[in-house]
Amino acid sequence: MSAENAIWASLPVPAFLIDAGDRIVDVNSAAEGFLNLSRKAVLGQPVWDQLAIDAPIEPAFERARAQGTPLFVNDIDVGSGNRAPLQCAIQIAPLIGSPGVMMMLLSPRELAGRMTQSHSVKSAAQSAIGMAEMLAHEIKNPLAGITGAAQLLSMNLAAEDLELTDLIVAESRRIVKLLEQVEQFGNLSVPDFKPVNIHDVLDRARRSALLGFGAHMKIIEDYDPSLPLAYGDPDQLLQVVLNLLKNASEAAPGGGTIRLHTYFEHSFRLRRNDGSGHSLPLQVEVIDDGPGLPEEIRADIFDPFVSGRENGTGLGLALVSKIISDHDGWIAVDSVPGRTVFRLSLPRVPKQSGEKESN
Ligand SMILES: Nc1ncnc2c1ncn2[C@@H]1O[C@H](COP(=O)(O)OP(=O)(O)OP(=O)(O)O)[C@@H](O)[C@H]1O
Ligand SMILES: [Mg+2]
Repeated sequence: MSAENAIWASLPVPAFLIDAGDRIVDVNSAAEGFLNLSRKAVLGQPVWDQLAIDAPIEPAFERARAQGTPLFVNDIDVGSGNRAPLQCAIQIAPLIGSPGVMMMLLSPRELAGRMTQSHSVKSAAQSAIGMAEMLAHEIKNPLAGITGAAQLLSMNLAAEDLELTDLIVAESRRIVKLLEQVEQFGNLSVPDFKPVNIHDVLDRARRSALLGFGAHMKIIEDYDPSLPLAYGDPDQLLQVVLNLLKNASEAAPGGGTIRLHTYFEHSFRLRRNDGSGHSLPLQVEVIDDGPGLPEEIRADIFDPFVSGRENGTGLGLALVSKIISDHDGWIAVDSVPGRTVFRLSLPRVPKQSGEKESN
């Protein structure tokens, strides 16, 4: 492989070469992953048919081509086929030596956000959770005493005062429930890694959701039957999917549709700050058609105690995020009213030693 070809193939962001007629001349493997299409399938195709860009950049693109200058566009939504749009930065530059041909690089913002997310989850959230766990333990005993005392009091009260003791009992119960959820974090052990059929996990979650909190929802399975086994802890992954289904169901009290979508994206890799990286090719999406994330909290939903619901404890997604990060996986969210996608990216079962990793 020539150095040029190697550079092209190694570019970690989707890259496109576009000819003077706006047709795709070449794509790198990250672009194949982004489009979810093979290079062969897109060569010669009009580029603006393959990429849905939610802003009129074509005139600026034409100008850049005419003047032979680069063009940078930040924070623009780029979609393709049936995938949810991702916020990207776009860099376009004329290809030296090939008049009219432009090179375009997409840098999904999400990828940058990803790095910091798993770090903050492991550090900041962790200490908040440690503190909360300790408090949970300390508060539960006196609270049981308060509840008991209120119940004793209520025996001698007139009807109009009963309301007050009932309030004490009900609120105490709510706090106990919250504390129990906090304690779940403490009980979370390191994942017991084994080969997991993700579709079995999704089926279990789906059935249990339909019997309980999700009885008012329609849950559609949209599985890639050739998906290889994931490497993880089936019980913890079940907890993750249940939490996502629960949130989607609670966001749509009047009913709605949830799609469980799995697919393989072999080019998906997580790169860490220290330069190490590993492949997370299994993608699991939980997609709902509800109202979307509340604007005020959308940047913080993975933090503990952030909730947009009146009775929410805000621990569901913090737990999800902790489990996924313990799996060395990734979670990303994309949400607009009518379409909210939580995407889990998970590792596959490690290959036998001796076998070479492709990609
Ligand atoms: N699919 C979704 N659609 C709309 N909003 C969502 C969705 N998933 C999460 N959210 C928002 O994110 C918030 C945080 O979710 P999280 O699961 O962490 O906490 P919670 O559901 O409020 O409480 P808990 O899960 O502890 O009972 C929710 O309160 C809700 O506002
Ligand atoms: Mg929740």
